[in-house]
Parts: sequence; C-alpha cells; structure tokens
Amino acid sequence: LKGGKAQSSGRGDVPEMERADKEVSVAAMKEYYKQFDPRSYLRYNYIPPRADFTRTDSIVPWKLSCLHLIVFHAIGDVHGRTLIDIGSGPTIYQLLSACEHFSNIIMTDFLEVNRQEIRRWLHGEPDTFDWTAFLQHACELEGKGCSWPEKAKRLRTAIHDVIPIDVHSPNPLHPYSLPELADCLVSSFCLEAVSPDRTSFQKALTNLGTLLKPNGHFLMIGALDESYYQVADGVHIPVVPVDQEFVSATLKSCGYEICTFQCYTLPQDMKVGVDDVAGIFFVKAKKK
Ligand code: SAH
Ligand code: ADE
Repeated sequence: LKGGKAQSSGRGDVPEMERADKEVSVAAMKEYYKQFDPRSYLRYNYIPPRADFTRTDSIVPWKLSCLHLIVFHAIGDVHGRTLIDIGSGPTIYQLLSACEHFSNIIMTDFLEVNRQEIRRWLHGEPDTFDWTAFLQHACELEGKGCSWPEKAKRLRTAIHDVIPIDVHSPNPLHPYSLPELADCLVSSFCLEAVSPDRTSFQKALTNLGTLLKPNGHFLMIGALDESYYQVADGVHIPVVPVDQEFVSATLKSCGYEICTFQCYTLPQDMKVGVDDVAGIFFVKAKKK
C-alpha cells in the first residue's frame, strides 16, 4: 500500500494483505475501513478550527460556499430530480445547498456504521452530531430568510434512501436497482481515501459514471496531496495523493468536461494532526 505514514493498529490481518497485488490492495483498503469510527471522524473534521463559521478561511465554510455558488449562482445548470451522494460517511453538510434543487437524494456509504449515523439524524434521534451551525450557515449563504429547522426539514424530505455502495464494483450500488440514472453525483473526500492507487481511483470513477445521465454533473470535493488521514484514535488510513492535474485528466479520460476547478490551501492552523492534507479541491464536471 502507498502512504508512508499510514499505519494500522489493532488488526493483525492488514499487514499481510499489504504485500499482495493491487486487487488485494482494494481488499486491504476495505479491511482498514472496519476501524472507521464515525464519531471520531466527525470530531476531527467537523468542529473548529476546521468548521469555524466566523472565518471564511476555515475548511467547512470554504466547502459550503463552493457548493452554494455552484448550485445557486453559476449558470444554473445543476438541477434535476435525482442526486446521488457517493461515500456520504456520517455527514450531511455536502447536501445543504443541493437539497433546494433535487427532490430525490440518495445517500450512500460502504459502512453500515455511517449509514446508521445518517439514519439517526434523519429520524431526529437524540445524541446525534449537531449540524445546527452548518444548517444556519447554508441558510445565511442563500439569504432568503430560511430558518435552520426549515432547512433541516427540507433536507430530510429530499433524502429518499441511505444505501450501501462500493465504488470499486462495476455496479457500485448492487443489489439496489436505480429507478433512473442520476442527474447529479456529489462526492466529498471519498475516491482518494478509498483507492489504493491512481489506477484504482480512475477505475472507481469509471464505475460511478454508470450511475449518471449524459449531460449530468459530478461535483467532487477532495483532499490534495494527502497520504493518510485519521479515522479513529490512533488509526491512520492511507490516501492516494492527488493533485489538480491528475483529477482533471482523470475526469476528462472518463468522459467529463471540466466546468470549474477550485483549490484551497490549508492555513497553518487547520493542520490539526489528523491528516497531512495540503489543500482541498472542488470540481464541477459535466458528463458528455
Ligand atoms: N463524504 C464524507 C465522508 C468521507 S470519508 C465527508 O465529506 O466527510 C470516506 C468515506 O468513504 C467513508 O465514509 C467510508 O466509509 C467510505 N468508503 C470506504 N470504502 C468505500 C468504498 N469501497 N466505496 C464507497 N465508499 C467507501
Ligand atoms: N475532511 C473530511 N475528510 C477529510 C480528509 N480525508 N482530509 C482532509 N480533510 C477532510
């Protein structure tokens, strides 16, 4: 496996798999993910300083403003009925703007613990992660006087399913049968964090292409030049380091046209010791 600083703790079976070929490396990534702890992950990435809404140079406000601008201000072509969020994890922030334009949102994740975390939020169960500040911020960006509980209700109404996915499968949503192809795919911090190498990232992108209509959009957010990230206390997962050139070229090779590509460089104080990410990219691509 790539990712020099990556380490596994507590699972004796992973190192053995690291020695094997690429196919097994995909399997090794899946093995690593058994250690993913949704609550820890949320704590590493979705509280200040990374989610500080008093600063525009904090990571989460930057991501929310990209999503807002694309959905509301660009040329207004990101709309339709069905949107699939790829590798949702335990988070909902990535859909706060999109839920105003897509009435049928399908959330997906490889891990049942993450799907469960989402369902608990959808059902308004107690002791779930507090998304209030994120909801409020999205409402402020829209400037239409929408209150955060209304926004939460809109998002809950738009989300129709939370289902398993494996981006490494040629049929990623198997055995779910999609009633219609998606008008839009969203994916944040997924492909580079679940692929053992660039070839496998590209293959995963090809697999996802089967879910999207021609002329549909792919909104992808991801980590730049990251080699590992923390998914539970003391557990690091390898990430395939990518840059703008690779992400653009790979999207083009998979039949997309790049509409916008934006990069964010991490301020020093966002480097909180849970990964070695250098920056974040946001790309809007259109399937030809
Ligand atoms: N989208 C969220 C979570 C990203 S973390 C965010 O923006 O924070 C990466 C996610 O990929 C995890 O939730 C993990 O469970 C999921 N994942 C792991 N292996 C996967 C696979 N083979 N296919 C799809 N998703 C996978
Ligand atoms: N935020 C969510 N996931 C992340 C990752 N893998 N690296 C950096 N920031 C993140």
